[in-house]
Amino acid sequence: MSNILILGATSAIAKHTTRLFAADEHNLYLVARNKDKLTSMKQDMLVRGATSVNIESLDLSDDNNHVELIKRATDTMGSIDTVLVAYGTLGNQKESEKNYANTLKELQINCLSVISLLTLLANQFEQQGSGTIAVISSPSGDRGRQSNYIYGTAKGALTIFLQGLRNRLAKSKVHVLTIKPGFVDTPMTKDFKKGLLWVSPEVISKGIYNAIKKKREVAYLPFFWRYIMLIIKSIPEKIFKYLSL
Ligand SMILES: NC(=O)c1ccc[n+]([C@@H]2O[C@H](COP(=O)([O-])OP(=O)(O)OC[C@H]3O[C@@H](n4cnc5c(N)ncnc54)[C@H](OP(=O)(O)O)[C@@H]3O)[C@@H](O)[C@H]2O)c1
Repeated sequence: MSNILILGATSAIAKHTTRLFAADEHNLYLVARNKDKLTSMKQDMLVRGATSVNIESLDLSDDNNHVELIKRATDTMGSIDTVLVAYGTLGNQKESEKNYANTLKELQINCLSVISLLTLLANQFEQQGSGTIAVISSPSGDRGRQSNYIYGTAKGALTIFLQGLRNRLAKSKVHVLTIKPGFVDTPMTKDFKKGLLWVSPEVISKGIYNAIKKKREVAYLPFFWRYIMLIIKSIPEKIFKYLSL
C-alpha cells in the first residue's frame, strides 16, 4: 500500500488510471477543479478498493496554491510516494497566434504550473530518498507543427524539464516517468474526427500503470507512437516546413 497524489484526477485518462491504483488498495489524494466530479470519483474509488480517498478542489494553474497543497496532501496521507500529473488544456492555437496573453495562459497551465509543482515534489522526494513522478506530456512536444505548436511548446519544455529531473534524481532513487500518449478519445479531443490511430483512455491507463510499475523512463502510448514520431522527427526541416501538419 502506498500514498498517491493525482493532479487533474478527473481527466479521462487519470480517472481510469486511478481505478487501477484503487484496486491495489492505495491511499489516494485527488485534485481537480470540479467538486461534483471529484465527489463521485471518490465513491467510485472506495468501491473499487482504495484504502482511503481524499479530494480537493483547486485551480492548479495558480502557483500560489502549490506549497499549501503539497503540505496538505503530505500531512493527510503521512507522505507522498507517487504523483501523477494529468491536468491540462488543449487551447485554441489560432487564438494564441493573435494574442500573446492566450499563449501565456496555455504555457502556464500546461508547463509552468507543472514545473512549479514538480520543483516542490522533486525536493521532497529527493529528501525522502524515494518516490515516483509520473507526468503526462505529449508527442506534440517532439516536433513543432503549425496546427498546435503552442501546446507543443508547453509539452516539449515539460519533456526536457522531466529529462533533467530524471538525471538529477536518479542517484536519490526517485523514478521520473514521461508519458506521451498519442490520440486519445477524451473530453479534451471531443471535437476531433476520430480515425484508426485513436484509442480509449482505458488503453492509455493500462500503459501508464505498467510504466509506473516497471519504472520506465519514457512511455509512448500505445508503443507505436515512438516509431511514428521517429519518422516525423527524421523529415528534413526544408521539407517539413511545407507540410500541412
Ligand atoms: N487526449 C489526448 O489525445 C491526449 C494526448 C496526449 C496528451 N494528453 C494529455 O493528457 C492529460 C489528460 O488529458 P485528457 O485527454 O484526459 O483530458 P480531459 O479529460 O479533458 O482532462 C483534463 C483535466 O484537466 C483538469 N484541469 C484543467 N485545468 C485545470 C486547472 N486549472 N486546475 C486543475 N485541474 C485542471 C480538468 O479537471 P477540472 O475541469 O475538474 O479542473 C480535467 O480533469 C493532459 O495533460 C493532456 O494534455 C492528452
